Amino acid sequence: KPLNRTQSRDSPKLCQLQPFLPPLVLYPLSFHHPLCFLLCSAEMASTTLICDTEPWKDLKAHVEDFKNTHLRDLMNDKERCQSMMVEFDGMLLDYSRQRATLETMDKLDKLAEAASLKQHINRMYSGEHINSTENRSVLHVALRAPRDAVIYSDGKNVVPDVWNVLDKIKAFSEKVRSGSWVGATGKPLKDVIAIGIGGSFLGPLFVHTALQTDPEAAEFAKGRQLRFLANVDPIDVARNIAGLNPETTLVVVVSKTFTTAETMLNARTLREWISSALGPCAVAKHMVAVSTNLTLVEKFGIDTNNAFAFWDWVGGRYSVCSAVGVLPLSLQYGFPIVEKFLKGASSIDQHFCSAPFEKNIPVLLGLLSVWNVSFLGYPARAILPYSQALEKFAPHIQQVSMESNGKGVSIDGVPLPYEAGEIDFGEPGTNGQHSFYQLIHQGRVIPCDFIGIVKSQQPVYLKGELVSNHDELMSNFFAQPDALAYGKTSEQLLKENVPQHLIPHKTFSGNRPSLSLLLPSLNAYNIGQLLASYEHRIAVEGFVWGINSFDQWGVELGKSLATQVRKQLHASRTKGDPVEGFNFSTTTLLTRYLE
Ligand code: F6P
Repeated sequence: KPLNRTQSRDSPKLCQLQPFLPPLVLYPLSFHHPLCFLLCSAEMASTTLICDTEPWKDLKAHVEDFKNTHLRDLMNDKERCQSMMVEFDGMLLDYSRQRATLETMDKLDKLAEAASLKQHINRMYSGEHINSTENRSVLHVALRAPRDAVIYSDGKNVVPDVWNVLDKIKAFSEKVRSGSWVGATGKPLKDVIAIGIGGSFLGPLFVHTALQTDPEAAEFAKGRQLRFLANVDPIDVARNIAGLNPETTLVVVVSKTFTTAETMLNARTLREWISSALGPCAVAKHMVAVSTNLTLVEKFGIDTNNAFAFWDWVGGRYSVCSAVGVLPLSLQYGFPIVEKFLKGASSIDQHFCSAPFEKNIPVLLGLLSVWNVSFLGYPARAILPYSQALEKFAPHIQQVSMESNGKGVSIDGVPLPYEAGEIDFGEPGTNGQHSFYQLIHQGRVIPCDFIGIVKSQQPVYLKGELVSNHDELMSNFFAQPDALAYGKTSEQLLKENVPQHLIPHKTFSGNRPSLSLLLPSLNAYNIGQLLASYEHRIAVEGFVWGINSFDQWGVELGKSLATQVRKQLHASRTKGDPVEGFNFSTTTLLTRYLE
């Protein structure tokens, strides 16, 4: 019997209570308790793939029910639409334009149960080593937990460590911003270049881009610049240092491992830029680091007193709330703004681990993605924020999602008989409308996330215009989902006297799914909420697909082949060695390059 979607199936469980219980109460409940370990292990040890379960098969069969169901009809069912709106802490999610019925949602709930989704979330929050191939906890939620929260990793409450680093960042950023920390020539450091790549770059860039035009944040950033150097391409170096004076620049080297080739080369280049202008001693005043590897930080020549730690239980792409993001953003905007961002993320963390699934925004987002990818067969997702301030949101989520869920085997190493992960891409509206929306409207079906903001960061109203710029933007935010869902029929076109030969070209099939997420405004708090909602959505998808969303072995092969090429280039350039050991194609290309 389908569940009534207003009923809660999930009673509050361990993770809901955990961050707020004192250690003595918490510890006996935690995964590290031998009894809990046995119980959880027995439950999780099963190697059954999710596709072998009844709820999966049931959903496969359920797809047939949509053969003759059009979103046009589904949207007429007001009760359905009402049930498909969820609100939390100012955010409104409307998923009524998904190709799903209330019955679908009940079936997805059962799939979540079969995938032990609740237990997986609990295991994550209780610090179990759910990243099993790297034998690590996954605790980015601890990075934004309140000071008095208690979250364990390997039997240790990690929250005090998190706050020690946050306090250190607060003190350091205040010194730099106030001018009490000065450069080698006594000048205040007003510009910051953050060197880092992948997870040590994309998240902080997204948040920085989003905050730049927030009036409150911008007020605190006056007279300061924050730039990001990611690519090893010398063009990126040139662009980053253009117009900057080493005397007034602070370089933050951000690398979890402190071994990433691109980051370390860029760090050496900028160390040279500083020391050739100001002398080698200037490095101590002009370079600081963020890393889990303080030994290598010291070896590089950065004083570990000026290093900001994080921990192996923070995945690179989930590290924006660690010193990776918090340090550069605090230097630019001041710590209080960044603290608001952390609070927004924390609000979603609490919602994610405690709200019943039918009201749980990240869970709903995740389950609907699984439905779209694995059952309806849509491999991509477009992320379409109607806010220019969110222009770096899609690139960030692209990494979080595709590096997390782009996997071919289950967490137990069994090849997946179904596709996991999705292809994420996106652009802010309305720019995207003049670019790739043609394909989304009349070509391939790509489920879309429309993200809208009620109150613009920068409202502009020109006298004589019909609506303000923001209303104009939002008119498109509201119109596009309906255009996708309803389409336009040949009958409608005939009534409009469209010539017969143009009718096939002007017809829109409709029935194209989307969801709308409406945020009240775009300040540091909302940006944190948005980030955490997507991080958890991606985890939900991975938990249901039964994969490890927290490792990234797929990036290794290319890195090791580049090492071989690097050695060859060095030997050819310095000793004139011929190119050898590569296939015909690579040999030819390398030879041409060296010539
Ligand atoms: O792209 C692979 C990756 O390992 C990412 O997961 C990580 O965020 C990035 O490289 C940078 O790594 P690091 O912070 O260690 O320099």
